[in-house]
Amino acid sequence: MKIRIQPLKKGELKPLFTNPNELGFCKLFTDRMFVMPYTEVDGWHNPEIKKLGPIPMEPSTIVLHYAQEIFEGLKAFRTKKGEINLFRPEMNAKRFNRSAARMCMPTIPESDFLASIEMMVRLEERWVPSTSGASLYIRPFMIAADTTLGVRAASSYLYLVILSPVGPYYAEGFNPISLYVSDEYTRASRGGTGEAKTGGNYAASLLAGRTAREKGCAQVLWLDGQEHRYVEEVGAMNIFFVFGDRLVTPALNGSILPGITRDSVLALAKDMGLKTEERAVSIDEVCGGITTGSVTEIFGAGTAASISPVGSLRYREQDYVVGNRKVGPLSKKMYDTLRGIQYGELEDRFHWTTKVPLEKPAEA
Ligand code: PLP
Ligand code: COI
Repeated sequence: MKIRIQPLKKGELKPLFTNPNELGFCKLFTDRMFVMPYTEVDGWHNPEIKKLGPIPMEPSTIVLHYAQEIFEGLKAFRTKKGEINLFRPEMNAKRFNRSAARMCMPTIPESDFLASIEMMVRLEERWVPSTSGASLYIRPFMIAADTTLGVRAASSYLYLVILSPVGPYYAEGFNPISLYVSDEYTRASRGGTGEAKTGGNYAASLLAGRTAREKGCAQVLWLDGQEHRYVEEVGAMNIFFVFGDRLVTPALNGSILPGITRDSVLALAKDMGLKTEERAVSIDEVCGGITTGSVTEIFGAGTAASISPVGSLRYREQDYVVGNRKVGPLSKKMYDTLRGIQYGELEDRFHWTTKVPLEKPAEA
């Protein structure tokens, strides 16, 4: 893939953030965006990187009506040596294409998906923060671009990549959050789109998310769509329970997003000698385990949230407090290990990181 890079003039570049500790999550975007159209006749064509700006659309553009859209989320990390690491980007490429297939959208060659990310990060290198805990969030996404109101898969699409320097996802940082267990609403059901990373899943989650915040919780812990009985995942992360020496997480059942951090945590846990279980976990087992003390830690795992310790669950108007609302030892160890690999401070024995070349590409 030959990417055309539109040169930006010095005066067009935004001032860089001044305090990386105040970035928050995706409040600020870098100077450029990657754009590539798709049509049935030409396939993917004319990839280019240009100044970040509005994408003109007819009001009838299909994505605005029927939400035919998919996205990914990954991060670039600055090491102490000044290098830039991507974390398992090929997994995002694969998941993007699985989401595309589920949403009746065209796939993108993995090498093109990876090249779009690498070229964007190379050009926007100055935006990768040097502070540990901060990183550059990468958001590749695809939208249906046909202008029609017929309900059918579009024949034209747009693939884009935008970037945002970020700090912690939750205001709490690496401190335990509270989760609200919704037994009223569900996010996804068997046969639905839960395992695809598609915008509609997130739209469907907003109402329960509002209730969670009204109850003083950061996010919703979703239960299954059939019985409202089995734990699935959290709004932007997968969930793990420590039962003694076992690390338990809900099995991928079609309605849960197959998280890349989840996969990494399972691999690290096995490497640490822990027993891991991927299986159905009922909310009664979890709440019962918290009450009897057999559940000693809960944490979430995701790209945006990294490892996020959970201090309490609110279920049916009752609070279940885990580990005295303190960060548990495994949550801390997992966070340190993952962070260490991502920032190049620990040996990357699993070959999870990819270095981004730092030479500036030619702009034309
Ligand atoms: N579950 C949901 C619903 C998510 O949005 C995310 C974030 O991407 C995750 C889980 C965690 O996935 P990953 O670790 O690949 O970021
Ligand atoms: C991510 O972790 O990349 C996510 O997609 C979470 C996002 C919905 C904010």
